This record gives sequence, structure tokens and C-alpha cells, in this order.
Amino acid sequence: MNKTSFLGDKPVNRIGFGAMQLAGPGVFGAPSDPERARAVLRRAVELGVDHIDTSQFYGPNVVNELIREALYPYPEHLKLVTKVGGRRDDAGGWLPAQSPAELRVGVEDNLRTLQLERIDLVNLRLFDEHDTEGRLAEQLGALEDLRQEGKLDLIGISNASADTLRRALELVDIACVQNAYSVVNRAEEDGLALCEERDLAFVPFFPLGSAFAGGPRQLAADPVIAEVAARRQITPSQTALAWLLHRSERILLIPGTSSIQHLEENIAAGDIELDEQDMQRLEGATRLGHPMAAAEH
Ligand SMILES: NC(=O)c1ccc[n+]([C@@H]2O[C@H](COP(=O)([O-])OP(=O)(O)OC[C@H]3O[C@@H](n4cnc5c(N)ncnc54)[C@H](OP(=O)(O)O)[C@@H]3O)[C@@H](O)[C@H]2O)c1
Repeated sequence: MNKTSFLGDKPVNRIGFGAMQLAGPGVFGAPSDPERARAVLRRAVELGVDHIDTSQFYGPNVVNELIREALYPYPEHLKLVTKVGGRRDDAGGWLPAQSPAELRVGVEDNLRTLQLERIDLVNLRLFDEHDTEGRLAEQLGALEDLRQEGKLDLIGISNASADTLRRALELVDIACVQNAYSVVNRAEEDGLALCEERDLAFVPFFPLGSAFAGGPRQLAADPVIAEVAARRQITPSQTALAWLLHRSERILLIPGTSSIQHLEENIAAGDIELDEQDMQRLEGATRLGHPMAAAEH
């Protein structure tokens, strides 16, 4: 199994870090122990993480500021990836911010809070695909303008069906797709297949089944996952991450955690070899559907 792959033309380790879990409860406000959150980020980089996923709307601002405080000046090899297209209300609700003007403000806000002149990759985070139908060209056009201005290197798309991805690919160069996908949520198989065909990175969010829907607890409760984990002497979370790494060479992981112990466990999943029999057994894990109900939405 390859340990590295690509985001666009940029080589990265296949295990990165998703920073969403570093904010306070509900991804809103500050965490109870900001120093612990910064320590998780520093440990991630120490362990070889060179790809961190974030957004200005995590907190809002909080997570980007933790990243800046912990890691600035950034190591040269570190790729920072953000997403635009949403905003938060005063109670922490998730609202769309999908107009070209709002997308531009979103990129500028990320650059400011991360203290960057240029960011490695910006995902267009779609909220309602039907709503975006007539707007995709202007939305991606806004990001392409920002690329031409030197404010970002690569464009990705998130929460996009395979059809939307096909349309997006006709409009601009797309480097990655970020959709919900895991051993227990296989709704986005078509999108993954298209990424393989077009040689794009597929970056699954909720790789552990989503904290909003029971997360790793539900992985542990699944008899098939529990059996493979016990046989390999690994944890259910490691089983789910190793399954993703074996599922496709184009998959890059960004598991999120606020715990150093979980971070170390997740990174160690990169050394786990699953065989054909394990992969076949894991096809029998219970499918839990799309866990977005209470999530970042
Ligand atoms: N584009 C989008 O729309 C979108 C949506 C959601 C997320 N994302 C991104 O995707 C990243 C990954 O998603 P996620 O963080 O929500 O994934 P997830 O599948 O929900 O996993 C995170 C949950 O698992 C727990 N966890 C992590 N490692 C564990 C371990 N080894 N053992 C036990 N529990 C563990 C975390 O709790 P602890 O903190 O206690 O470890 C947290 O509750 C996010 O961080 C974010 O950057 C993108």
C-alpha cells in the first residue's frame, strides 16, 4: 500500500488531519482547553502529517486561529486546505454563503485568520445541489479568479454528487472531492469511481462514521468491524481507516480528533495491512447511510 499520494500536483502523506474537532462543542466557540488543541496540531506535524483540513467557519475563526498559533510559521511541506460556502449564525447554526461575493470573502477570511498570502487548496462546499445548478459556473469562476490572483493554488469541491463533479470538471481544474464516505457509509461510491477515473484525490469526511451520528462507538458495535479488529489486534477506528486506505489509492484521510492518543492511533493505521479476506469481510459491515442530519450543514 502506498503511503503517499497527490493533492493535484502536490505529493502528500495519505494520512492527514481534519481540524474540525478542535473547536468547542457543536464546532462552535473555543475548546475547553486550547493548549491541548494546539498540542494535537503540533504532534500531528511531528508525526508526519503534511495535510490539514480546516475552515474559517469552524468556530468560526477559532480553528484557523489555533492552527496559526500552533504552527505558524508553517513548515514548507505543510499543505493547508480550507472550504468556503458556509457561515455560522449567532447560535452556531450552519448557513449557506454560496454567492460568488461570499465565496471571495470566505477565501479572504481564511487567508487572514491563517496568516497566509496564498492557500494550497480551497474546496467549494456545496449546501444544496439543486440550488447550485444554475450557479456552479459563477461559483467556480469566482474561485478560478482568486487562483489567477495568486490567492489559492488548487480548487476542490465538497458535498458534490458525481453529476455535479462531472459538470465542475468541464468548468475548471478540480484537484479533489471531499464527500462523506466510510466503511459504514457508502453512498458516494460513484463519486469515488469518477475520482479514480479522472485521477483526482478523494478525501472522505466522517471517515469514522461521524461524531454527529455515534462515531467510533457505532464502529465498535458492528460485529464485522469488531471481528476484523480483534483478529488484527487493532481498534475499530483503525480498522475503518485502514479499510479506506486499502479501498482506493486515490483516498487521502483527514480523520478528526481532539485527543493526542486518538491522533497517534489514527496515524498508526497507516502501517496496517489488511488482506483480501479482511476487505471482503468488511463489505458486510452495517451501512448507516448519510450522517449529515445534525452535522456541518
Ligand atoms: N466538507 C465537509 O462538508 C466536511 C464535513 C465534516 C467534516 N469535514 C472535515 O473532515 C474531517 C473528518 O471528519 P470528522 O472529524 O467529523 O470525522 P468523524 O468520522 O466524525 O470522526 C471524528 C470523531 O471520532 C472521534 N475519534 C477520532 N479518532 C478516534 C479514535 N482513534 N478512537 C476513538 N474515537 C476517535 C473524535 O472524538 P475525539 O475528539 O474524542 O477523538 C470525533 O468524535 C473534519 O475534521 C473536517 O476537517 C468536512
